[in-house]
Amino acid sequence: MCGIVGYIGERKVLPLLLEGLKRLEYRGYDSSGIAVPTEQGIWIAKEKGKIAALESEINGVSVEGRLGIAHTRWATHGAPNRTNAHPHVDGTGHFAIVHNGIIDNYSQLRAELEEEGVPFETDTDTEVLVQLISHLYEDSLESAVRRALDRVVGTYGIAVVSDNEPGTAVIARNGSPLVIGIGEDEMFFASDVAAMVAHTRQVIYLEDGEMAVIRQNGHTTKTIGNVHVDKDVHEVDWDLTKIERGGFAHFMLKEIYDQPRSIRDTMRGRLLLDRATAKLSGLNLTDEDSREIRRIVFLACGTSWHAALVGEYMLESLAGIPTEVQYASEFRYRRSPTPEPGTLFVTISQSGETADTLAAMREARRRGSRAVGLVNVVGSTIARENDGGVYLHAGPEIGVASTKAFTCQLTALAMMTLIFGRAREISEATGHGIVQSLDRLPDQVEETLKTDGAIRAIAEQYADRPNFLYLGRGYNFPVALEGALKLKEISYIHAEGYPAAEMKHGPIALIDDNMPVVFIATQDAIYDKIIANIQEVRARSGKVIVIASEGDEAIAEHADHVIHIPRTHDFLTPILSVIPLQLLAYHVAVIRGCDVDQPRNLAKSVTVE
Ligand code: G6P
Repeated sequence: MCGIVGYIGERKVLPLLLEGLKRLEYRGYDSSGIAVPTEQGIWIAKEKGKIAALESEINGVSVEGRLGIAHTRWATHGAPNRTNAHPHVDGTGHFAIVHNGIIDNYSQLRAELEEEGVPFETDTDTEVLVQLISHLYEDSLESAVRRALDRVVGTYGIAVVSDNEPGTAVIARNGSPLVIGIGEDEMFFASDVAAMVAHTRQVIYLEDGEMAVIRQNGHTTKTIGNVHVDKDVHEVDWDLTKIERGGFAHFMLKEIYDQPRSIRDTMRGRLLLDRATAKLSGLNLTDEDSREIRRIVFLACGTSWHAALVGEYMLESLAGIPTEVQYASEFRYRRSPTPEPGTLFVTISQSGETADTLAAMREARRRGSRAVGLVNVVGSTIARENDGGVYLHAGPEIGVASTKAFTCQLTALAMMTLIFGRAREISEATGHGIVQSLDRLPDQVEETLKTDGAIRAIAEQYADRPNFLYLGRGYNFPVALEGALKLKEISYIHAEGYPAAEMKHGPIALIDDNMPVVFIATQDAIYDKIIANIQEVRARSGKVIVIASEGDEAIAEHADHVIHIPRTHDFLTPILSVIPLQLLAYHVAVIRGCDVDQPRNLAKSVTVE
């Protein structure tokens, strides 16, 4: 949600910043801009829309600066137009800022500055910050930023430059991520490692309440309160190939096809065949601790929330642990009883930066509970602040619609269920069966991907429909929600997911011969029930698309289209059954000419509440 990138060094700054912006474009694409302090003042370029628009605007331009900051925006305050695009410059034209986050007390600060005659040009909350920095500047950019931040209430990741100090950038974070990259005789800073990994893998993660002064030959890190902090340098363990499309038409398709590998990576070294269990050392829980868990509460948003719903079914039915799933955004503001001892909070987040999930996790810990996380992005805030956690190792996910992170979350949840279950009621024989089923999953995912051609044909038939319904029961009810979400996100078709039996309580009124209904009807304990639900749709002329178990040929007589997926343990089925739904959403969106990787109004990582 808004991406920041900056560079100081000997190389030409504009191409480097543009390249960094493109790697961050998944964070927002309403507008973008660049600021470079030069001897003639601060050079600024901004454009509405995607980075390609900015790139053509500055095509052929050369700027004599070696320091620059850049931003790609997901609008919060102020329309997504050119005026409101970052960087923002103060009234004197000597200071420029890029900002990710929200300044809560901006109207009060703006009123005070306006009273003192400071003119404002934009509708953004960010402009107040650069005006304040300029207003407070005496002879040091660092101390002006510090004094300004002292007066600010809100969240921010910022980078500030001034032509008074053309070799210095000041960055600070409170609630929005910032990473410093150390190159050879050059420095980078950005919201995400992706913006710099082509040039350096040595990084420092800033914490909330910290700031850094960055120059070509080094940096100093301090708290915003001006106390020096020593920071560890981390080595990023992936490279550029992981964030390129690698011959696929879209990142989303690449990531769908990445799933056999990413699921294998989630399990790598974690399955213990001889002990019929798994090991997730990062959870920091002994067998004894696992036995003492009385209740699990999941906190998550979006697709990660759907993964949590599957986790709830898994943990209750296999490990016998009472489990609930909370929307992080609700939990953080909800008055609820103090969690009983033995409550374990589990946050699920691909990015590890979702503002609501982070705040909910902090709230849970503040109330004295233990919180662990299932997180994909290494070094992200949620990963660092949890009491323990599991990295998914799915690799970078760039497509805004989450795919491989979801199946890796389910894989991690399955391993967690196995561990907690083995410490309680799962027998060794059952444990063995589960470990073997997990081990077979990557090949079965590979098999499932072969349905791609058949799904494309179905997509062609229904891509023009205005509505879709997705129905499933048990473990596959959250998959129905996820299938509907995928379609909504990238094709803009209205879609709803329901537990199949709930259909009779409302959605059935929508069914006519124009309504495609996608059933996830694998042969599990409640197979007969879902067949009855399919009949109810057929009786009303709905078009039935079924995801069924391999070998279930009989189901064809109830359906217009059948997609078969391999058989596995019931609780692992969602890892396979969601894949045809990801592909269906993808093909429908492509046929409709939608922007698959960067759907309108969305952002990959929602770092504002
Ligand atoms: C955004 C993304 C979704 C994602 C959700 C939660 O809405 O577009 O794909 O599921 O945030 O993100 P997280 O990184 O916490 O899993």
